[in-house]
Amino acid sequence: MGRLTGKVAIVTGAASGIGRASAKLFAAEGAKVVAVDRADAVKDTVEAIKDNGGTAIALSADASNERDVAHFVDTAVGEFGALDAIYANAGISGGNQPPFFELTADHWRQVLDVNLIGVFLAIKHAARVMIPRKKGSIVCTASVAGIRSGAGGGPYSASKAGVINLTTTAANYLTGTGVRVNAICPGIIETGMTKPIFDYAEQRGTKDRIGQLNPLKRYGHPEEIAYMALFLASDEASYVNGQHIAVDGGLTSSMPVTGRIGR
Ligand SMILES: NC(=O)c1ccc[n+]([C@@H]2O[C@H](COP(=O)([O-])OP(=O)(O)OC[C@H]3O[C@@H](n4cnc5c(N)ncnc54)[C@H](O)[C@@H]3O)[C@@H](O)[C@H]2O)c1
Repeated sequence: MGRLTGKVAIVTGAASGIGRASAKLFAAEGAKVVAVDRADAVKDTVEAIKDNGGTAIALSADASNERDVAHFVDTAVGEFGALDAIYANAGISGGNQPPFFELTADHWRQVLDVNLIGVFLAIKHAARVMIPRKKGSIVCTASVAGIRSGAGGGPYSASKAGVINLTTTAANYLTGTGVRVNAICPGIIETGMTKPIFDYAEQRGTKDRIGQLNPLKRYGHPEEIAYMALFLASDEASYVNGQHIAVDGGLTSSMPVTGRIGR
């Protein structure tokens, strides 16, 4: 038996990185998966799941558009009969934005629309179908950038701090419903989003220096986040609610002030 056997799960941002790894892991653990992304490559994720004997469908959708969100939630219920878990993971960095004090309202809106409002919409519509069943798990991707500054641009960091707060707020608005809401705060993970950083370091021969600030002294892999998402989505996490959990090699566990062995 898999850890999600008999469950139906949506994963957004499933065409790449953390979302793809999570969709594959959820399916390998027995979930029927609705893989959502605005990128066509979400079909490749579903192909890989099917090749592995899993069940999944691919949906093209914009996670920041309420009609799309309502549609992918309704499709999960229509195709597979229910919704047990959603991993609201789609996100953008904002790309090469100008320096902080030159940012415009449009720069902010672009990032907040996907990273924060998109997560709210996922929570809203997942809760709509989970509340009547008195159970469900909602998992969101925040970031270590939402805990402290310095790990992303201003709009990105604020959007992820917003996701952390939204997680606690939604968990409390869902009091008495049996629906849990939690967030994961990844550290530096090698994905499509961080590709420019990894490509640049590769060119300079410094890839092994990425992640040196955390006590494990390395960067992370999408599967290491997917395992936390799997746990939170599953019944193993039945008493975990309203939390944000860093999966960052220990990056946020300390102030970088005193010396450490092996630094
Ligand atoms: N990679 C890291 O180091 C890191 C660290 C902390 C948090 N995160 C977060 O992890 C999540 C996943 O990112 P990733 O690192 O796997 O990057 P990624 O770029 O590999 O994957 C993100 C996916 O989200 C999709 N997406 C973006 N906007 C969308 C939208 N509006 N509608 C539908 N799909 C959309 C993209 O097409 C892409 O497939 C994001 O929320 C990101 O902010 C990443």
